[in-house]
Amino acid sequence: MKQLLLYCRAGFEKECAAEIQDKAGQQGVAGFCKVKPNSAFVVFEAFDAKVLNWFYRRFKLSDLIFTRQWVLLSGDLLELPAGDRVNPVVMLALEAGIKEAGSIRLEYPDTNQGKELSNLARKLTVPLRQSLRSSGVLKLKEDLTAPVIHVFMLSGTEAYVGMSYPANNSPLENGIRRLKFPADAPSRSTLKLEEAFLEFIPKDEWETRLASGMNAVDLGACPGGWTYQLVKRSMMVVSIDNGAMADSLMDTGQVRHLMVDGFKYKPDRKNVYWLVCDMIEKPQRVGKLICDWLINGWCQESIFNLKLPMKKRYETVQEVLTEMQDTLKAAGIKAQFQAKHLYHDREEVTVHLCKG
Ligand SMILES: C[S@@+](CC[C@H](N)C(=O)[O-])C[C@H]1O[C@@H](n2cnc3c(N)ncnc32)[C@H](O)[C@@H]1O
Repeated sequence: MKQLLLYCRAGFEKECAAEIQDKAGQQGVAGFCKVKPNSAFVVFEAFDAKVLNWFYRRFKLSDLIFTRQWVLLSGDLLELPAGDRVNPVVMLALEAGIKEAGSIRLEYPDTNQGKELSNLARKLTVPLRQSLRSSGVLKLKEDLTAPVIHVFMLSGTEAYVGMSYPANNSPLENGIRRLKFPADAPSRSTLKLEEAFLEFIPKDEWETRLASGMNAVDLGACPGGWTYQLVKRSMMVVSIDNGAMADSLMDTGQVRHLMVDGFKYKPDRKNVYWLVCDMIEKPQRVGKLICDWLINGWCQESIFNLKLPMKKRYETVQEVLTEMQDTLKAAGIKAQFQAKHLYHDREEVTVHLCKG
């Protein structure tokens, strides 16, 4: 088991590869990536299986920005003859010594071609699960705390097979958080902030960290998709943008709309808990602005997007995050960082910062 399979957004394979190579390298795991443009996945092959296993158990998936899911592969790309797609998977799992896994997921790349495999994946799930159970690879009853077997189909006749561990994987099918667009939201961007809350804030802390009555500021708010998420949670919001806000939000009485520059606005009181920011601006400039807010004590937590240039996207994110960490450290501010290329993000990543 010398290879990791990493799922990402199509078009971001280079970033996903640069990141795993960089992060694994820092932990002493040497290897190389196999990258096919627009495939929506990357294979990282390490020179040493033991070291890779150690890294996979120790390094946190949440510390990878461009990877949605990761799987420790049990072997090379497996051929699945159309007449019998089940037995080759069972044989490979047995050869790899997989025993008593808790569940199985049949997945595919997040590409148009990949999505065409969804029906086949669904049809194969039941017979494959039954065979894996009778051969002892899978437990007889589903166990969501035990390792997960992934069959990642590249076509009707080829798949990667491997494993992930529930304490350090994405619990989501294909690593994708599908959300329903709320019919009364003013823009699809709303899903980015909803996904960010689900990704970064543990559900059992929502009552205190996403509480009703909190004050929030939304920089670059129009037409109001992010403000909508805050209003929905009964917060009071100052929305900053020169554009127009949706009337439905203004009618709630929870929103104050100020047509001013988001880089110049300062809150009059230190009672803001959340600062969110979706302004289309240079990532370095946004990073500096968010640091200013934290250093001045104008907010406690922040979720913001870093819009990425077409080239050097991974390098840019690293540079901005490192600069922010250095700035906050120099100012004596302790803050937890999390960053992810969310499913609803496109040419951007979402960052979460929490003081303390
Ligand atoms: C991607 S849109 C925001 C969408 C919004 N989050 C939503 O969910 O509807 C970016 C917004 O940032 C605003 N913007 C860009 N630069 C700004 C600045 N310096 N100050 C305030 N707003 C700015 C633009 O007017 C634009 O409405």
